[in-house]
Amino acid sequence: MFEDIDNINQEVEKFQSNSLEEIEQFRISYLGKKGKITLLFGAFKEVPVDQKKEFGKQLNILKNNCQEKINSLKSKLSTNSNSSKSNTDYTIPGQPMNFGSRHPITLIRDRITNIFSQIGFSISEGPEIEDDWHNFTALNFPKEHPARDMQDTFFIQDEIALRTHTSSVQVRVMENNQPPIRTISPGRVYRNEAISARAHCFFHQIEGLYIDKDVSFADMKKTLLYFTKSMFGNEAKIRLRPSYFPFTEPSAEVDVSCTICNGKGCNVCKYSGWLEIMGCGMVDPNVLENCNIDPDVYSGYAFGMGVERIAQLIYQVNDLRLYSENDWRFLKQFSSETF
Ligand code: PHE
Repeated sequence: MFEDIDNINQEVEKFQSNSLEEIEQFRISYLGKKGKITLLFGAFKEVPVDQKKEFGKQLNILKNNCQEKINSLKSKLSTNSNSSKSNTDYTIPGQPMNFGSRHPITLIRDRITNIFSQIGFSISEGPEIEDDWHNFTALNFPKEHPARDMQDTFFIQDEIALRTHTSSVQVRVMENNQPPIRTISPGRVYRNEAISARAHCFFHQIEGLYIDKDVSFADMKKTLLYFTKSMFGNEAKIRLRPSYFPFTEPSAEVDVSCTICNGKGCNVCKYSGWLEIMGCGMVDPNVLENCNIDPDVYSGYAFGMGVERIAQLIYQVNDLRLYSENDWRFLKQFSSETF
């Protein structure tokens, strides 16, 4: 009898399963009505009286062991199955991903540079802190020119200033390269102006330079028409008005037919049908000479535009300040722009 208890104890200890059905089967065959342990309780009356106490004690221990075994196997099973199921609720709506967006000035700058890259213009960059030679003197600005005045230019020290245009980069390119030169210079420029919806103390420019033998005004006009159509659409027209810049002769101001009303007249173009977008002209021979390029052999044209100005026309944003205030509500509106 005691041997039976020992044997069953060993069987119980050995038993392992991770199937609920098997565990239930085990329970029935040991603790069920006709289970081995239950039957041992039935055999209790056959145990000699002096051993009854000990037998009962051991039998109860066996019964408890068996029950504990069943409980522990079952609880292991339920924690296992919980972890494999995972606690994630796949029906909860996802957290929206906040994509950044490129700045409208970056978008427009890239569009412009891309248009010129397609016809062979390289991109050149230069320093934002410039000396007087590269920003003014080499570009044929007379000593008394008002742009050199403290009111227009941020001077850092004598003869050193924040560049007022990226024409300074073109001087550097001409000094270091012989024609043919075909390059555009995008970059930030600074002018000492009161900040308002229409003016800012810094903005962005893209200036272009083309120097080779026999470059004509007509070449420039055709290139600028190509640019305007690529930027504003095939129906866009341009017109050139005489103007003045110290570094070009002749010089012109370029207007594009109003992108809003197609030239019919509206309040954006002040009912003129035209919008001013850039300055341009044939590079003054003095400038070529200043940069060691022979004006008797080479000629060239230059042009320059404000990136904010083009962005205003493309995006219909009328307050210049929005471009540098980094207001998230403004910037996120450009997140779908793919250029
Ligand atoms: N540098 C001029 C400006 O800043 C633009 C320009 C460039 C005009 C080249 C003519 C030729 O306004």
